[in-house]
Amino acid sequence: MSDSELPMESVQIVAEILRLFRERGDSEYGGESITQAEHAFQAADLALENGADSTLVVAALLHDIGHLLHNLPDDAPDQGVDDEHEELGGRWLEKRFGPAVTEPVRLHVAAKRYMCASDPEYYNLLSEPSRVSLALQGGPMSAEEVAEFERNPFHEAAVRVRRWDDEAKIVDKVTTPLEGFVEHIERALALS
Ligand SMILES: [Fe+2]
Repeated sequence: MSDSELPMESVQIVAEILRLFRERGDSEYGGESITQAEHAFQAADLALENGADSTLVVAALLHDIGHLLHNLPDDAPDQGVDDEHEELGGRWLEKRFGPAVTEPVRLHVAAKRYMCASDPEYYNLLSEPSRVSLALQGGPMSAEEVAEFERNPFHEAAVRVRRWDDEAKIVDKVTTPLEGFVEHIERALALS
């Protein structure tokens, strides 16, 4: 699809996303040795490698968009501050995309709390910054919270995004460039 065939709004949303990554994507990914943009592109590539559709590829790409929307320091969790980036990102996304993109993003922190409660191996896989933020985010879910999470129709998508999120921390990994994800953003917008 060429730009001229897209409704104006879609063109603007694609431009907004590209601008956010170009202007803010170089910031450090919370205590890890990679940038926000590198982390996002690795997560989206993992989605593609695992056969995800465009809405889930875009959810993976934009799962931490909330970090690009606030001005808290990169090491906020070390200062004991939960930036609530999943809520910020979810609110920003719901004005632009449907729930297949928005909900896995909103739930990706809950998914970490869920997996820590339901998979004993999972906690051991978490990086140190991820463990620090887990405590701030409420720690592992209670049995009641697990049951409620499993009732959410997007919980499996959120767990998939979470696993790609956790793996997308490889220093100097070559990824699809930002422009390579535009077709998926357009497709996800068309489905929203
Ligand atoms: Fe992430």
